[in-house]
Amino acid sequence: MTYRELSAQALAEQDYDAFLTELQKSLTGGKRDPNEVVRDTLFEIYLGVSQPDRENLSVAARAAFHNFDPRNVTTEPEYYSDIDAKLYSERKPMIWLWQMFDRSPLGQNALLAHRFRRMLAPLIFRTVGDNFKCWHFVEWSFGYNLSFGNNVVVHRNVLLDDRGGIDIGNDVSISDYANVYSHTHDIYDIHKVYTPRTRIGNGVRITYHATVLAGSQIGDDAMIGTSAVVTRDVEPHNIVVGIPAKSVKVKNQ
Ligand SMILES: CC(C)(COP(=O)(O)OP(=O)(O)OC[C@H]1O[C@@H](n2cnc3c(N)ncnc32)[C@H](O)[C@@H]1OP(=O)(O)O)[C@@H](O)C(=O)NCCC(=O)NCCS
Repeated sequence: MTYRELSAQALAEQDYDAFLTELQKSLTGGKRDPNEVVRDTLFEIYLGVSQPDRENLSVAARAAFHNFDPRNVTTEPEYYSDIDAKLYSERKPMIWLWQMFDRSPLGQNALLAHRFRRMLAPLIFRTVGDNFKCWHFVEWSFGYNLSFGNNVVVHRNVLLDDRGGIDIGNDVSISDYANVYSHTHDIYDIHKVYTPRTRIGNGVRITYHATVLAGSQIGDDAMIGTSAVVTRDVEPHNIVVGIPAKSVKVKNQ
């Protein structure tokens, strides 16, 4: 799908570029601990001021300050026993920055946020192709088990649970509130977790509110209808709908 080209006023464009360039340099330059970069950046974008003297803050502001530091928070995936803690901790500052940015006064400004997420994505995910576009409130599990091809668009409130791994091909669109899973629990023993890899082929469209269950292989150019639940593999070019998702049509090729 072709998007309209939009821009801000010249001064804002200049400041957005400068902000992203400086932030990327601070996160990747090796001179500063990314946790501290994230803490200070969040403090600035939430409170509109540079890091003040801690002693001059109220207790509530001090709590907020601690909360901006990724070393003082935990996320749900960190509790999973199958996590690779090293791989996750390398990414955690950037993951926390992404999630907190989305909820900050800047997070709903797509003009800035698309560039912001495109800058962070390679620092979080296994691979990210060209033209990655991600709208707000997207969540994932580990990040290091998630790969995106070229020209992938992920819309609002999507959940990409990459616990067992998700491979997303080129030219894929994932619409609002869709869920893609790669873990499931044994029906008798909740502690037994299965993590089959889920694959989304090239040109696939997962439309709004659809769910793809763990281990599903979605063939190239397939389309998952709204609210469908995919429990099995989907053949290339097929349109599937319903629960469980069944093919109702094969697209002309
Ligand atoms: C998948 C989809 C595109 C199918 O559209 P279509 O090819 O025009 O299919 P039809 O409307 O001819 O439907 C074929 C049959 O499936 C049924 N059906 C279609 N979509 C369905 C759905 N999401 N769930 C259950 N049944 C569905 C239709 O009622 C019809 O059944 P019938 O033959 O008994 O009357 C459409 O249903 C859909 O989900 N669109 C989502 C919107 C979208 O495009 N989002 C993209 C955002 S990027």
